[in-house]
Amino acid sequence: MTIAIVAAMHEELAALLAQMPDEQRVRVAGRDFWVGHLQGQPVVAVLSRIGKVAAALTATVLLERFQAQAIVFTGVAGGLAPGVRVGDVVVATRLLQHDLDASPIFPKYEVPLTGHARFAADTAISDALAAVAAGVLADTVGLLGQKAVEDFGLAAPAVHRGLLVSGDRFVSSAAESSALRNDLPDALAVEMEGAAVAQVCHDFGVPFAAVRTISDRADDAAHGDFTRFVSVVASRYSLALIDGWLAT
Ligand code: ADE
Repeated sequence: MTIAIVAAMHEELAALLAQMPDEQRVRVAGRDFWVGHLQGQPVVAVLSRIGKVAAALTATVLLERFQAQAIVFTGVAGGLAPGVRVGDVVVATRLLQHDLDASPIFPKYEVPLTGHARFAADTAISDALAAVAAGVLADTVGLLGQKAVEDFGLAAPAVHRGLLVSGDRFVSSAAESSALRNDLPDALAVEMEGAAVAQVCHDFGVPFAAVRTISDRADDAAHGDFTRFVSVVASRYSLALIDGWLAT
């Protein structure tokens, strides 16, 4: 059973890729697919690049060429709900494309002809990821070191489970994030790939899960916060979460 591990950017997966000693690189559609093992489990790891089309293409290649039997997306997201802060972890229960609107022909957010706006994540994988995340967040000093914990102000980070929304926009203003909060009050966080992969996995009947660390609040400070977070700590979170999950 091959599990696919996907992140959009190198900074989000670098530490995990460094842990795959027996990997073999296969290049498809301009992407490197790293085939190997983590915790004794066959995996294929890949950087999708940013955005929904890039993510959907990558998911399709994973399923068709590499026969991935599950896909887990990891990386960072911008916090939307009030209590979702930098350093927290969000495990998606459902995923929606916030920039999809074929109304009045179809209801806003619905993927035309599927009858779905919200695509469910796999419960068993998501439960296991959330349990691992709680353990990882219980020792952020062990994970990141005292200095990073202080620099990022990580006081008692939390695990959240719920709606993750995706769109082809980096949300970087308070006006935009509050508009998203108004339209989708139960959205926990925003990123740019997850819901596209959820849709592809739904069509193929393959389990999907997404676990994201909050890098910014999708507000006027998002650009700087995101850049600092991905360059300093993002990949350590991904490694701890995915490696911890595969070890269970
Ligand atoms: N990923 C991390 N932060 C994000 C943001 N503010 N908007 C979209 N995707 C993100």
